[in-house]
Amino acid sequence: MLDKSEFIGKAVFVAGGTSGINLGIAQAFATAGARVAVFSRSPERGDGAVASLRTLGAEVLGFVGDVRDMASVQEAMAATAEAWGGIDVLCSGAAGNFVAPAAMMSPNGFKSVMDIDLLGSFHVLRAAYPFLTKPGASIINISAPQASIATPLQAHVCAAKAGVDMLTRVLAMEWGPEGIRVNSIVPGPIDGTEGMARLTPTRESREAVIRNLPLRRYGDLTSVAKVAVMLSSSICDYVTGVVLPVDGGASLAGPGLFGSPA
Ligand code: COA
Ligand code: NAP
Repeated sequence: MLDKSEFIGKAVFVAGGTSGINLGIAQAFATAGARVAVFSRSPERGDGAVASLRTLGAEVLGFVGDVRDMASVQEAMAATAEAWGGIDVLCSGAAGNFVAPAAMMSPNGFKSVMDIDLLGSFHVLRAAYPFLTKPGASIINISAPQASIATPLQAHVCAAKAGVDMLTRVLAMEWGPEGIRVNSIVPGPIDGTEGMARLTPTRESREAVIRNLPLRRYGDLTSVAKVAVMLSSSICDYVTGVVLPVDGGASLAGPGLFGSPA
């Protein structure tokens, strides 16, 4: 059963952990007593996240970098491992999104999202690998419903996040023998996030999503964070390679849910 003290002093690295869902995850681990490192592009957002995590009593490291730049990712991982002796939990959630028809999308627009979401995830996983606790590390990749639900105006995100889920499954197989577990969380619509602001910018579009949701409500930041902690805990020590929706049943609602963003 859950040992309430099991995250005390553990080292948690959250790529893209300075806002929204990923910051919620960082805060949940900080509340559980872990040391938390966050990494993103904006120094201002990073400072805000570090301050909010310190108010929870956590030991915190903040890094400025871009998941598209392997050197910046490697530097942050190495500094975290040097400070805390390794990385016990890795969360990879940096992502970008905009709404655009494929026929109008520039190759660089498509590439930007592939580079952040998919190549960036590989950079994060690959750079962390030497420092992960073996056995015992937990990796959580943050996916999206677009990974498995074909969604108009989201060709770039669908392609990138489908790749992220495959990385989860392949690395669960490759790294499982060393005692590293790799899982994906697929958040549904989460309130107050940049992602949903981009996908459902109007009251009408938000209400249309809610009408299609089995639980008839958006999730909140803690909905995903609680599951990230649970998946990384000893309760789930025999769970790996799973792509787990945390979505109020959204995945059952099918393409209607995100079918017509914006
Ligand atoms: N519609 C169509 N194309 C768009 C676009 C939009 N709304 N926004 C950006 N692009 C295109 C740009 O035109 C550019 O292509 P071009 O060089 O051919 O003109 C390309 O995408 C890169 O844009 P740029 O602004 O230079 O990228 P960036 O690296 O600074 O930012 C984004 C990446 C575009 C994904 C940006 O939205 C971002 O940083 N997002 C992070 C926050 C976020 O999306 N949160 C939700 C997570 S689900
Ligand atoms: P968000 O608030 O915009 O969070 C994105 C985070 O990633 C920010 O901290 C951002 O900080 C960082 N980031 C973006 N590009 C980066 C880069 N190139 N390098 C390093 N860091 C980068 O978004 P969110 O809505 O909470 O989404 C978080 C995750 O959940 C994403 O993986 C998204 O796909 C997934 N998701 C969200 C929803 C939802 O309801 N919102 C639903 C399904 C899935 P900087 O700008 O400082 O870099």
